[in-house]
Amino acid sequence: MTHRRTFIKTTAAAAAGIGMSSPLSASVFSPGKVLGANDRIQVALIGARSMGWGDLMDILKQDNVECHTLCDVDSQVLEEKVAHFANQDGPKPNITKDYRLVLENKDIDAVIIGTPDHWHCLPTVEACEAGKHVYVEKPLANSVGEINVMLDAARKNKSLVQVGQQQRSGAHWKTAIEFVKSGKLGTIRQVKFWGNFNYGAGNMPVPDSDPPKGVDYDRWLGPAPKRPFNKNRFHGSWRMFRDYGGGLLSDWGVHLIDMGLWAMDVKKAPISVQALGGNFANQDRALEMPDTLSVLWEMEGYNMLWEHNGGIERGPYDQGYGVKFIGSNGTLVADRAKWRVFPEGRGKEIRMEPMEAQPSDHMSHLNHCENFIRAIRYGDSLNAEIEYGHRSALYAHLGNIAYWARDRVVYEEKKRQITSSEKANDLLTPAYRAPWKFPKV
Ligand SMILES: NC(=O)c1ccc[n+]([C@@H]2O[C@H](COP(=O)([O-])OP(=O)(O)OC[C@H]3O[C@@H](n4cnc5c(N)ncnc54)[C@H](O)[C@@H]3O)[C@@H](O)[C@H]2O)c1
Repeated sequence: MTHRRTFIKTTAAAAAGIGMSSPLSASVFSPGKVLGANDRIQVALIGARSMGWGDLMDILKQDNVECHTLCDVDSQVLEEKVAHFANQDGPKPNITKDYRLVLENKDIDAVIIGTPDHWHCLPTVEACEAGKHVYVEKPLANSVGEINVMLDAARKNKSLVQVGQQQRSGAHWKTAIEFVKSGKLGTIRQVKFWGNFNYGAGNMPVPDSDPPKGVDYDRWLGPAPKRPFNKNRFHGSWRMFRDYGGGLLSDWGVHLIDMGLWAMDVKKAPISVQALGGNFANQDRALEMPDTLSVLWEMEGYNMLWEHNGGIERGPYDQGYGVKFIGSNGTLVADRAKWRVFPEGRGKEIRMEPMEAQPSDHMSHLNHCENFIRAIRYGDSLNAEIEYGHRSALYAHLGNIAYWARDRVVYEEKKRQITSSEKANDLLTPAYRAPWKFPKV
């Protein structure tokens, strides 16, 4: 049986002309080969509903890139998304519910992984093994054990893995980081991140129910524990439940932590991590991750801190989220719209020249997608190579582990173990539900 014959075919897809036999132009990709300017790159999207779709749209804006296949476990998502291509010239994407068929298909050069966090690890590892290039959404995965094995798979197979931390491709973030590195802020003693968002309060509870028609719920759960379907734990809002996501700290936090690690040139795990929090303000809501959390990472010569308050949107400097670098001459504060410097001292005692706010051009996501395609085609360096995704996810997950274990966490990178607390160490890697197996690399 050929792979194409096992692609699912829905009525709407058929109506939209999505034939399983429509071969797209043969790919010129072979693993390790850098594609030339005129070669067509075939991409597939795994997890098509929201962010993955946004990634695909910006990747398709690049020259000579084609969508070969859309993969999702929800037929309705597939039908909606494939309809987008109905009136466009050129071949239409195939559709499937099984990502393994995507990875087996030799015509596909690159995959975008836009599934919930608990479903990043297996497809990424298997895509690396299949010789595909990977654009995987952030956080790299939902646990420390998973991000480690993903890093190993990428290294072993010499894979290109771009992580969806698009701030790495933002021009104003780059100048902010350069400013921090220039030393003009003086000695930096604290790097602080915060993220206050209403969605961090969770939704109002709803009873368990049957999954919506067309959803392969068992496959959506995948390696996560089996449990009855609940709408709150599904599309979009899964991020507040431990089996699938890490709440605001790993959802938004990784973007901001990444900026701190970049600016401070951090290449290793923190010395220690402590965290305190709870569901203090939203006890009537459906969520497992804390609505309120403070994390303290011990670094060499400075502190790094995270704070979130789910359910409110205001924050320091009237920014709902941000990062600040506190130096002896001034404090640099940044978000996705701008960065600003607040000099220390007044009048003649001022320690830095005041500066205008430096605005963003809001091109970071498009740039990030362009960078991915250029890396495949011309061998450009990836802006958010897997190592950066790995490091910021490591910091975020160690924060959540310190919170759950209520213990100080010391992570020894060489051993890949938490040596300060057995309770915390037990939280590094989730047990996978059969038939899914934790990957071995
Ligand atoms: N880079 C960013 O700024 C950014 C922004 C939002 C979300 N994200 C990340 O993108 C990812 C997706 O988030 P979202 O908000 O789009 O989630 P979502 O719930 O809206 O969409 C996820 C999709 O994946 C599908 N899916 C689940 N399991 C699957 C499987 N085994 N095979 C194929 N499809 C499967 C679901 O059916 C759903 O359609 C997350 O990791 C999230 O953290 C990144």
